[in-house]
Amino acid sequence: MSRTWANSLDLHLDARAPRIRAAVEDALREAVTSGRLPAGTRLPPTRALAADLGVARNTVADAYAQLVAEGWLEALVGSGTWVADRHVVEPPSPSPPSGVPRTVRYDLRSGEPDLGLFPRRAWLAAARAVLREMPDRLLGYPDPRGVPELRVALAGYLGRARGVSVDPDRIVVCAGMTHALAVLGRLLRARGAESVAVEGYGHLSHHGLIERQGLRPVPLPVDANGARPGDLGGVSAALLTPAHQFPLGVTLHPERRRAFVDWAVRSGGIVIEDDYDGEFRYDRQPVGAMQALAPEHVVYAGTASKSLAPGLRLGWLVVPGALRDELIEVKEASGATTSSLDQLTLAQLIASGGYDRQVRAARLRYRRRRDRLVSTLGRRVPGVSVRGISAGLQALVELRPDLREREVIARARERGLALDGLEGYTAIDERRDRGALVVGYTRPPEHAYTTALARLCAALAEGGS
Ligand SMILES: Cc1ncc(COP(=O)(O)O)c(C=O)c1O
Repeated sequence: MSRTWANSLDLHLDARAPRIRAAVEDALREAVTSGRLPAGTRLPPTRALAADLGVARNTVADAYAQLVAEGWLEALVGSGTWVADRHVVEPPSPSPPSGVPRTVRYDLRSGEPDLGLFPRRAWLAAARAVLREMPDRLLGYPDPRGVPELRVALAGYLGRARGVSVDPDRIVVCAGMTHALAVLGRLLRARGAESVAVEGYGHLSHHGLIERQGLRPVPLPVDANGARPGDLGGVSAALLTPAHQFPLGVTLHPERRRAFVDWAVRSGGIVIEDDYDGEFRYDRQPVGAMQALAPEHVVYAGTASKSLAPGLRLGWLVVPGALRDELIEVKEASGATTSSLDQLTLAQLIASGGYDRQVRAARLRYRRRRDRLVSTLGRRVPGVSVRGISAGLQALVELRPDLREREVIARARERGLALDGLEGYTAIDERRDRGALVVGYTRPPEHAYTTALARLCAALAEGGS
């Protein structure tokens, strides 16, 4: 390994970072993983770099130590700190033999939050408090609506955080939104419904779930203002993601919210508002839930899958009075439920303020991840743009016309990076001139994000056919 000296370092420090040590650490990691500082480079002494950056010497020393612990740097006694030989250099493109995919080490597919952010300590403290205080009778079969403690806590939270008009008696706890959707589908079918409008871009698995309840999903076109109400003539319900359309990332325009609600009021139809990531808006206060416009015609659906972890299988519906009892029956018949211990723990977490703190911490981390995605792509991959509002856990990355979605995904896979294309979320027969990726920027653990982004850039920068 050849040795070079870096007397000064051009680090891209995030001046807005609340923790300067983390910012120095991130900037150094970025410089190493992107290859700007090749293996064998000697870093400036901590005192010199600290003076250059205008930070305390300890800040730089701590950042060096952290990167040594991670293996990016090596500290050699008496001869300073060096870039170790394991940094990620994107190979020029030596494709592996076809049919031999490299192991996926980095994952930017959508669907999961940063699981490393799960508030283990707060959850444990809440679970301890629950176990200490709960009477034995709460270990019996739980109320099919969900334990009252959780419904009360959720009513308070949803009212203040999402503007949902809610009484705890109208809340039904489910095993995640997916279970809630199956229950709603079964209920609608039992009431004679035949079809449900869905967004033309969305989870095809949700459309499949609707189909399996004996209902026909009818895809609606989606544009920059969200789903187009168009002709809702024959449908009995409309499944929408108003706050942050999945996966295009737009919000439902106020006039369209109104139009969907008016349709529901006029026709006796139901709007199902999937508010899967409503708390995660980064540039302004989130738009409140649509449910408040017409609580007797909108079913609000929320989940802990993004704010905490999908493994909990915890979601909740706020339902119109006319549907409530029947829905509880159908839910009970579905056989699925969530452990009352987990329900009580979530209730305790919300009541103690721990849930709000978690959402705030996650919001900050995810905003910074999204900002980095936007700025890194802007710097390194001209012509590729991030679409949609500054919100949520995934972003739509629209490709240049010379880039093919499937080819980019295949190239990324060769680099050990898993990606999702928009094609897999398209249920509508609209011609798309451009491909796009649905990038889940929250999925990698914090230490792997820089490398995941570097690999994404490499897969995109290689140019099209
Ligand atoms: C649009 C949308 N709705 C809902 C969910 C959450 O589903 P569940 O609560 O079943 O995990 C997701 C998660 O990926 C989602 O992307």
